[in-house]
Amino acid sequence: MERGRVTMDRNADAPWSQFDPEVYVDNNYRTPLEVDLRIVRLLRDYFTRCFSRGVPDSVRGVDVGAGANLYPALSMLPWCEKVLLLEFARPNVAYLERQVSSGGYDTAWDAFWEELRQAPAYAAVEPRSRCGEIVRVERGNLFDLDGHRRWDIGTMFFVADSMSECPDEFQRGVRCFMNALAEGAPFAAAFMKESVGYRVGAHDYPACRVNEDRVRESLEPFTGELEIHDLHHVVRPGHEGILLALGRRNSEVAPP
Ligand SMILES: C[S@@+](CC[C@H](N)C(=O)[O-])C[C@H]1O[C@@H](n2cnc3c(N)ncnc32)[C@H](O)[C@@H]1O
Repeated sequence: MERGRVTMDRNADAPWSQFDPEVYVDNNYRTPLEVDLRIVRLLRDYFTRCFSRGVPDSVRGVDVGAGANLYPALSMLPWCEKVLLLEFARPNVAYLERQVSSGGYDTAWDAFWEELRQAPAYAAVEPRSRCGEIVRVERGNLFDLDGHRRWDIGTMFFVADSMSECPDEFQRGVRCFMNALAEGAPFAAAFMKESVGYRVGAHDYPACRVNEDRVRESLEPFTGELEIHDLHHVVRPGHEGILLALGRRNSEVAPP
């Protein structure tokens, strides 16, 4: 936080309607970073383990705050009958709709699929056509997920920590995501460690500073199984690494 500032930027204050997905992809994913490729391998292996006894019929997946990142959705493709990409910022919704349209997703995402397809369940999938067939995009607010809609597998990447400066909104974001998962659902959630905010093009976006303890505390009440990977990669100034949480939803239900 800047010296002398007394208020914190809340989620509703940030310029989401100005979010530029192409600049965001340029900044983060166009040239794949080793840390993201490592995350993708961890996702691939974790979900493969979760479904090692078989894939139930009609598994529905959700990626919350999908923004301009397709790899969480790609990591769910072999397991799902349907995948929903939920996103608040209109420019990101338009970006995601282009990615799942008949033209197929941008080649920027091929490097991530290349890591995924090293496992047999992924190798059996033709990702571009599968994306077009089963992935749908919806504009929505994470805070409106009130536990009435529940998914069987879910991801949330750099959202609860990267949408507001307020610790109560971080906690609420995690709770809303976890309450959107059915009992036993495998999930993956990624967080920037100690982020002070980020810039996309000409606009600044807020972040809430979190560390491994804070992430664990926020997730533990909702999880049966939880592993947190501390990836010591700094991708830009203003944060101290990346935390990846992998786990399964327990049966607790908390008010939104
Ligand atoms: C740092 S970006 C992360 C995007 C993407 N998941 C990734 O892994 O790169 C934060 C995302 O959260 C979205 N977001 C912010 N507030 C939201 C809200 N209230 N509900 C849903 N999404 C929100 C933003 O539009 C943006 O796409």
